[in-house]
Amino acid sequence: MSEMVKTKKKSAASKNPTAAAVIYAVAAVLFALPIIEWAGNFAGEVGPNPAWNFLNLPARLFALAGFVLMFYQFILGMRLPLFEKVFPRATNLKRHRTLGKVAFVLILLHAVMMAAFDYSMAGQFLFDTYRVLGLIAVICLLVGVIAAWFFKPLKLPRKVWRTLHLLGYVAFPLGFFHASSLGTEVLTGDWTVSAPFTAFVIIFAVLVLYRLVEYYKELAAARAKTAG
Ligand code: HEM
Repeated sequence: MSEMVKTKKKSAASKNPTAAAVIYAVAAVLFALPIIEWAGNFAGEVGPNPAWNFLNLPARLFALAGFVLMFYQFILGMRLPLFEKVFPRATNLKRHRTLGKVAFVLILLHAVMMAAFDYSMAGQFLFDTYRVLGLIAVICLLVGVIAAWFFKPLKLPRKVWRTLHLLGYVAFPLGFFHASSLGTEVLTGDWTVSAPFTAFVIIFAVLVLYRLVEYYKELAAARAKTAG
């Protein structure tokens, strides 16, 4: 094996293999829970309506998988000291970029297919409160992801694209409220979907608070340094 490949492998390896194995196992279970719930419903729901089979059912699967992956993006992208004790920052950011793209495509497919399903059933697009929350979330995601993806061709300064990328923090809770009111799996699954999704949003809120406190501490320290 060449030295370069060895160095690359070493930098992606976990600093704590046991903790890493636990994190992978928890992440896999949390990802599987809503999919298992969806698969259980799929068996009973698939039927003669093509719009239901080819739009509604897959769109729900994409939303569930995309929402879990979206939550993982905050853990991977927030530079959390505890998480960085297990995985190197460069690995987390690389995974954030890759999984973030998958999450984005899944959510986008969900939104387009659900809107097409509504149109095929009702003959018009529907704009009730919870669908509008989903629409706002998808617009936030579009702006936030495109800014980060295309900051080079768009010649966006770092400060600008990073600020726009923060729109992901708006999209996630909106997506949660949207899903909690409309989602078949979220509403009908016993606890297997609603409990992890609620936990995601609570953890998300705690992490955002933690980040804000850290940010203001750093700002105060920088001000004290310039004043002193
Ligand atoms: C134009 C935008 C959107 C539209 C029209 C839309 C539409 C819908 C509809 C109609 C449902 C209910 C499906 C059913 O159970 O029959 C739903 C569920 C859901 N949506 Fe959206 N959505 C949009 C955007 C989003 C976004 C941006 C997210 C995530 C951030 C999201 C996440 C979810 C989730 C997780 C569910 C629950 C799926 C389930 O429990 O089966 N949606 N959406």
